[in-house]
Amino acid sequence: MKNKIINLLADNIEELQVSDIEKLIEIPPKPELGDFAFPCFSLAKVMRKAPNMIAEDIANKIGKPDYINEVKIQGAYLNFFVNKEMFVKEVIEVASDDNYGSLDIGAGKNICIDYSSPNVAKNFHVGHLRTTIIGNSLYKIFSKMGYNVTRINHLGDWGTQFGKLIVAYKRWGNKEDIEKDGVLALMNIYVKFHEEAEKDDSLNDEAREWFAKMEQGNEEALEIWQWFKDISLKEYMRIYDLLGMGFDSFNGESFYRDKTENVVNLLNEKNLLVESEGAKIVPLDDYDMAPCLILKKDGSSIYATRDLAAILYRHDTYNFDKCVYVTGQEQKLHFAQVFKVIELMGYDYFDKLVHVPYGLVSLGGAKLATRSGNIIFAEDILHQSIDKVKEIINEKNPDISDKDETAKIIGVGAIIFNDLFNQRIKDVAFNWDKILNFDGETGPYVQYTYARAASVLRKAGIDHVEGDIDYSLITDDETMNLLKDISRFKEVIIDAADKLEPFVITRYAVSVAQSFNRFYHENRINVEDENLKMARIKVVEITKRVIKDALELIGIGVVEEM
Ligand code: ARG
Repeated sequence: MKNKIINLLADNIEELQVSDIEKLIEIPPKPELGDFAFPCFSLAKVMRKAPNMIAEDIANKIGKPDYINEVKIQGAYLNFFVNKEMFVKEVIEVASDDNYGSLDIGAGKNICIDYSSPNVAKNFHVGHLRTTIIGNSLYKIFSKMGYNVTRINHLGDWGTQFGKLIVAYKRWGNKEDIEKDGVLALMNIYVKFHEEAEKDDSLNDEAREWFAKMEQGNEEALEIWQWFKDISLKEYMRIYDLLGMGFDSFNGESFYRDKTENVVNLLNEKNLLVESEGAKIVPLDDYDMAPCLILKKDGSSIYATRDLAAILYRHDTYNFDKCVYVTGQEQKLHFAQVFKVIELMGYDYFDKLVHVPYGLVSLGGAKLATRSGNIIFAEDILHQSIDKVKEIINEKNPDISDKDETAKIIGVGAIIFNDLFNQRIKDVAFNWDKILNFDGETGPYVQYTYARAASVLRKAGIDHVEGDIDYSLITDDETMNLLKDISRFKEVIIDAADKLEPFVITRYAVSVAQSFNRFYHENRINVEDENLKMARIKVVEITKRVIKDALELIGIGVVEEM
């Protein structure tokens, strides 16, 4: 119906296109002001006429089609009051489709998303939790739009630090400790290396030698490196399991070690490489950036070299329409440099490379479990959240059927929700009381609303309303308001994708939940009148599905009971 109004306006306003009107049309804050509103301010400039007069002209031109009850002029606004019964019918019919929300905008197009990408032998920290959660949500959003999405975990599994780790392991390491304590043990020997190297610089030479051996394919070096990698991956996989996420590729930095030579050759051919103090760089002064370092003095490649190789490889392999990188904003310069070098190399797809930065996690006063030495592991935070939820369940609803699974879905969901509640560039604060508040704008609140809808259907013994519905019975303000929210689902998904901002979906989920709770508060479901009861249950049924699907898009699960 909104589209009908948009087209109607477009047909009657020469100066504006459908796309302009789409951007201008709003849903008024109060139902007394109509169901949709069109402001005429921007037209006033073009038409050199007072906005209220323009509103009047348009109102006269469009007349009153059957789906509109009334068009009122209020100041500069045209306020549309739709035929409620037709509106309710339309939304319920459209939203009853199993694929409601799915789009085909991306059909036949490929997107790569590079996210999570922890550094082997280091802890998976809260920053990595953010890229993982944001990247996973973008994957779901783009998939819903019909894109073919490849999820890439660009593991930090190559570089001089592994030479240091091998030296440290050989001197102070112990196989059993590492098998037992995993990444924490690896981090401990790494710290030890740096302490000792302060006193004895020859350790650094030794480390360089071991990394050189790795690059030359030395069997012993690679065996130890692979073992470190396996140990680390085991821990990372536990986190992905907890979050219910997966990847299509784990090709990390080491995958590109035999592909960097080609990058260097290409840069040479194109006369882009310059020698600087023994190193090889691509100068970027013309673009107000520091140079992009390609080869170190000792001839070894670096992070950026491997990212360049990865772009060429991904373009060949996935033929991407967009290649997205989700990392902390401190890597902004790195990606700007790398993308610029790709442009200078003459690849026209440089503008399909997108860096998606995010802000910090501030732990504030939050009490967080640490394994040792104040090192924070994301896994511990997730478990802490789950444990806290379990306490709440034990207190409030101890008889619930699958307590452990329920606590996991709510505990993990609360963390994800908190992470995706604001624009990604904003810092995320950690406040347990806020995150786990069942009444605030939180994950548990939305999940609770879903469970409430589920319980309504359970009590009625219906999970799918069949047959005709008398739509004239459910045109009250609260139902209308809820259905307006439901009708926005597709626009919201497109908006989130355009902005690469999952928080758009999070806010939408909260809005639907709040509208549903108002609807539920005002409308008794279990009434005598069977027709009214069925009509209301239908509204509950579609709301339940939309909440579930919206949460799914941000990577949060639901429970039928909580
Ligand atoms: N491993 C890096 C880090 O933890 C992130 C890698 C991002 N992806 C990339 N292609 N550079 O900071």
